[in-house]
Amino acid sequence: MEKAKNKTVDLDWSNLGFSYIKTDYRFISHWKNGAWDEGKLSTENKLTISEGSPALHYGQASFEGMKAYRTKEGDIQLFRPKENAKRLARSCERLLMPVFPVERFVDAVEKVVAANAHWVPPYESGSTLYIRPYMIGVGDNIGVKPAEEYIFSVFVTPVGPYFKGGLAPTNFIVSGYDRAAPYGTGASKVGGNYAASLLPGKQAQEREFSDCIYLDPATHTKIEEVGAANFFGITHEDVFVTPDSPSILPSITKYSLLYLAEHYLGLGVEERDIYLDRLDEFKEAGACGTAAVISPIGGIQTQDNFHVFHSETEVGPLTKKLYDTLTSIQFGDLEGPEGWIEKVTV
Ligand code: PLP
Ligand code: COI
Repeated sequence: MEKAKNKTVDLDWSNLGFSYIKTDYRFISHWKNGAWDEGKLSTENKLTISEGSPALHYGQASFEGMKAYRTKEGDIQLFRPKENAKRLARSCERLLMPVFPVERFVDAVEKVVAANAHWVPPYESGSTLYIRPYMIGVGDNIGVKPAEEYIFSVFVTPVGPYFKGGLAPTNFIVSGYDRAAPYGTGASKVGGNYAASLLPGKQAQEREFSDCIYLDPATHTKIEEVGAANFFGITHEDVFVTPDSPSILPSITKYSLLYLAEHYLGLGVEERDIYLDRLDEFKEAGACGTAAVISPIGGIQTQDNFHVFHSETEVGPLTKKLYDTLTSIQFGDLEGPEGWIEKVTV
């Protein structure tokens, strides 16, 4: 394999969307007879699997989303990769899939990023290398039961902002649909949750909203999360608040922001219920996640009202501070809390 650091890619790095671009290497490992094989890097981006694979029919599929960041010095680093490994393990346990060990997960991610180092966008291009680890249940099967064989793979693709505005606020709409049930799989990063979100997401986009906001499935009175990100609000008293619910995805970005808001910005922090009829307690609001980073929410359309937070056109000052703090750590310009950054050796 030619050293990735000697290769170059000619892309318009500052104008990438959030779409798939085939890169050179992915990691792939197979689980059979109760054990993972050693795994290897492969140049083939197609899988050949049985038509009976439980992933295809019964949604036995889980995934992760992470990013590799290029620093000012040209190094490459990861943000809290062990947290993604642990969350994938929890998702897999929920779907009766085997766990891919945390250390091996991080090692596989580092290997794929290093092999595709030339695909990591330049510092300050506004783009990053998105990393997609996933696991699927495969093999000949027809009954509703867990697979006997699994594939774990990690691929990467360079991306720009997930929501079109980037740091410019965009508007969101409350959905009448639920993405997950109260005691269902909402807290797991599994394919079925995203399949359920396709129709409401499309309906939101057809009405020119960035995405929809889901309410708690039991009472439809509280904000749960966005289709592809967690929700936060900042009160008039400078408290950073995120919804507390067992059916939302435990966002690594959200937990990082709760820490940074308290320890770097001196804000109050709370995880608690956020009632839809009390949106006026917030002066700023946003969506946060790996793909979304921090996307300010200009306004939220409910059934009978359009509620504007700070502004429909300008990011609020505390949201901007949180964004700057988080991204400065991710890109290596600010020292993060211990253990948050892992350097990739190319
Ligand atoms: N909520 C949903 C539904 C998501 O798909 C994501 C993306 O991963 C998030 C929240 C944010 O999670 P994280 O910050 O770990 O990327
Ligand atoms: C992420 O932020 O990594 C996500 O998984 C969101 C979306 C692309 C599914």
